[in-house]
Amino acid sequence: MTSDRRFRPGPVEDGSRAARHNAGVDEHRSLPEAIRLRRLSTPELSPEATVAIRAMLDAAFGNDEEERFTDHDWEHAIGGLHVVLDIDGTIVSHASVVERILEVDGRPLRTGYVEAVATAPAEQARGYGTLVMREITADIHARFELGGLGTGSHHFYERLGWRTWRGPSSVRTPDGDHRTPDDDGYIMVLRTPSTPAGLDETTPISCDWRAGDVW
Ligand SMILES: CC(C)(COP(=O)(O)OP(=O)(O)OC[C@H]1O[C@@H](n2cnc3c(N)ncnc32)[C@H](O)[C@@H]1OP(=O)(O)O)[C@@H](O)C(=O)NCCC(=O)NCCS
Repeated sequence: MTSDRRFRPGPVEDGSRAARHNAGVDEHRSLPEAIRLRRLSTPELSPEATVAIRAMLDAAFGNDEEERFTDHDWEHAIGGLHVVLDIDGTIVSHASVVERILEVDGRPLRTGYVEAVATAPAEQARGYGTLVMREITADIHARFELGGLGTGSHHFYERLGWRTWRGPSSVRTPDGDHRTPDDDGYIMVLRTPSTPAGLDETTPISCDWRAGDVW
């Protein structure tokens, strides 16, 4: 699954001043030597890369008890595709996509669910998160019936075609469905070429159960 894309000298392929500006790269800062975007399966992540990604996620999500990145969050992020951006070998941005079954109005949909999206605090607002999420979004488009994620940062994803689910949310458990009202309005979806026609964003949506945050 490994694939490498290198960008020289900026994080955009044509390297033009305008494109670098649009990607948020400071024209006055010395340009990085090499920005590399990699697609890796979880077993392809080296132990060093895993440690570096976890450290970056911890720093990006901070220490607040509600927001911090937990071991459950990492478990949710593994087993699928990771997109990793590094600058001169230092990992600065990451997101992953794992397969889940979301049900919309009772209909199961094979969903690419996005987890562990972050950019190192010192490198935020330079376009790197967008580069990573563009790659993830393209992958979901190619492989899944739907994309899904949970976020409070709606604007970041709306720019890439994601839309807020407006219907009521719940989780499917062995003892039946349970409403997750705190997650209503927090879930975003991405339509793909294989999304069923007529998908209605105001109808009920549910996810499979897992330990930690279910959405
Ligand atoms: C959210 C995050 C991944 C964005 O990464 P980034 O590399 O800074 O993003 P970019 O520079 O590519 O983003 C540029 C655009 O996203 C917007 N954006 C960035 N962070 C945002 C946030 N937290 N909420 C809403 N919009 C955001 C910017 O305003 C900008 O939009 P514009 O082009 O319309 O001005 C990064 O801020 C981060 O790691 N945050 C902490 C962890 C987190 O909240 N992760 C997402 C949880 S679902």
